[in-house]
Amino acid sequence: MRLVLLGAPGSGKGTQAARLKEYLQVPHISTGDLLRAEVAAGSALGLQAKEVMARGDLVSDEILLGMLRDRFSREDTKAGFILDGYPRNLAQAAALDELLRSLGQKFDAAVQLAVDNEQIVERLAGRAQAEGRADDAPEAVRKRLQVYDQQTAPVIEFYRQHGQLTVVEGVGTLDEVFTRIVEAIAPEKAVG
Ligand code: AP5
Repeated sequence: MRLVLLGAPGSGKGTQAARLKEYLQVPHISTGDLLRAEVAAGSALGLQAKEVMARGDLVSDEILLGMLRDRFSREDTKAGFILDGYPRNLAQAAALDELLRSLGQKFDAAVQLAVDNEQIVERLAGRAQAEGRADDAPEAVRKRLQVYDQQTAPVIEFYRQHGQLTVVEGVGTLDEVFTRIVEAIAPEKAVG
């Protein structure tokens, strides 16, 4: 199964991708996690990305595509993947299309987790207190939501127009949201 998970910051992409990874037995590729690993390692790329991420902006398309190409060159992605955090603008959507085409692959579904902004702000404020992620500070959250509306919302529309979009209600318990996703993408595998 090849899945693209879409949704605003804090909509639960990472949380659900971790569960889907076990369930579908395919790797979870989070561009946010890949970038945070570079920042933690203090690499040249990480140094470039650190401030951009902390203020809630998007890291350059070029860097992201390079990272993604590297990750997709690994053997484990042949069986499928859950892509979380990419694409985030229309140029990235086109680049993903091109990359998958060059690999002779195509994804099965783009799943959008729908969560309203009020709930998002509440979730990220909770995580800011619990984990202290730099971009969960209120100013950065505002910026991330703005970037999402301006740059990522058109990606959702793009997949909708191409008949590839599945929208899943992202509010509820983790189990409820997970069950909705599974029912939407692989009803034959859903339990209960
Ligand atoms: P990234 O790491 O992708 O962050 P994000 O999209 O802002 O997503 P989050 O990780 O905040 O949220 P999520 O949807 O994964 O939700 P989560 O499961 O964590 O990107 C970070 C930055 O990296 C970007 O801003 C950008 O700078 C850069 N970047 C990454 N990809 C890029 C790209 N393609 N191009 C350019 N730049 C890029 O959950 C959030 C919280 O809610 C958690 O505390 C969780 O416990 C809680 N929660 C989850 N589900 C529920 C639920 N059902 N009910 C209640 N709480 C819940």
